[in-house]
Amino acid sequence: MGVPFDTTDGAIGSKFDIRPAASPTPQAERAEKLANPGFGRIFTDHMAVVRYSQGKGWHDAHVAARTNFSLDPAAAVLHYAQEIFEGLKAYKRDDGGVNLFRPDANARRFRNSAERMAMAPLPEPVFIEAVEQLVKIDRAWIPGGEGSLYLRPFMIANEVFLGVKPSADYIFAVIASPVGSYFKGGPAPVSIWVSETYTRAAVGGTGEVKCGGNYAASLRAQAEAIDRGCDQVVFLDAVERRYVEELGGMNIFFVFDDGSLMTPPLGAILPGITRDSIMALAREAGTPVREAHYTIDQWRTDAASGKLKEAFACGTAAVISPIGKVCSAHGDFSISGGAAGPVAMGLRKKLVDIQYGRATDTHGWIKQVF
Ligand code: PLP
Ligand code: COI
Repeated sequence: MGVPFDTTDGAIGSKFDIRPAASPTPQAERAEKLANPGFGRIFTDHMAVVRYSQGKGWHDAHVAARTNFSLDPAAAVLHYAQEIFEGLKAYKRDDGGVNLFRPDANARRFRNSAERMAMAPLPEPVFIEAVEQLVKIDRAWIPGGEGSLYLRPFMIANEVFLGVKPSADYIFAVIASPVGSYFKGGPAPVSIWVSETYTRAAVGGTGEVKCGGNYAASLRAQAEAIDRGCDQVVFLDAVERRYVEELGGMNIFFVFDDGSLMTPPLGAILPGITRDSIMALAREAGTPVREAHYTIDQWRTDAASGKLKEAFACGTAAVISPIGKVCSAHGDFSISGGAAGPVAMGLRKKLVDIQYGRATDTHGWIKQVF
């Protein structure tokens, strides 16, 4: 890589100093917050933090009361956006235990993101340990039913220097937010706006990693989607501006009349862990799955002819959300009359049953915290 980070200290994973909050949220207040959590607005009492500096490597791993960071105004992240993040969930099982879904895959993607952004790669065991320790201490914040605890690991560059170069210092942290549905309507079909003015990423750019900059660049297009009355934006490729890539915060699948599934190939999109899990579940059930380019014009034609039966968005936050309507400057169209399709809903059930421990995990995807 040419970036001389010290990555020898994976043993820090077993050295988290646990410092419980002196005044955690009272039980009644927590219960009130958990009754209707929404998405990403409520936070638990603690956070996990690990620091990196050149020479010292990763150090000071701890879990403590959630608090503000103190950042110098010249901290690199504030100027050059050297920042990456992840998203995964902890699920409460019916027997009261707690499952994490594929945290190893998030840890690996986080490392890939760090490498692409020339940041210090966090040893994967440290990522997983930080997440687990936070879930353990904030266990009381995991909602029951179809809610979950959304975990947000992230890393920022905090060297105090205005030159443009990879930072020598980093803060890795994990925060947690009890969540319900990402979309207000739950699993009801969502509407999406095709962004023809703005693109998200080009091959060779940062589309394949989870860096904050990708999302900053998507906000104008997402705002356009909201203005048009849509829930989410869908981006087209940056070169020919006709191949469907992904949504602002989700991957996309298409279901055809022969029962097959198709999803855009990797290259400039985020390699979603939900996307990968869906492909595995579908293939196991004998459903053909292709990773192939699909143009917006073909999508419109196939929706009109009935060749396209369903389309759905997928991601950790969105789970599997059917797409009912597509809006664009060239006219709107609906998919299967705008109703939720059986393939999307069937895959959704299969996936959440594994996540909540209601179905046997034959893939080694579940890591039980309790
Ligand atoms: N694509 C984008 C741009 C995302 O932000 C996300 C969410 O993390 C996904 C796809 C889906 O990824 P995953 O299934 O790993 O959550
Ligand atoms: C996730 O699904 O984890 C994301 O980061 C996407 C975002 C829309 C919350």
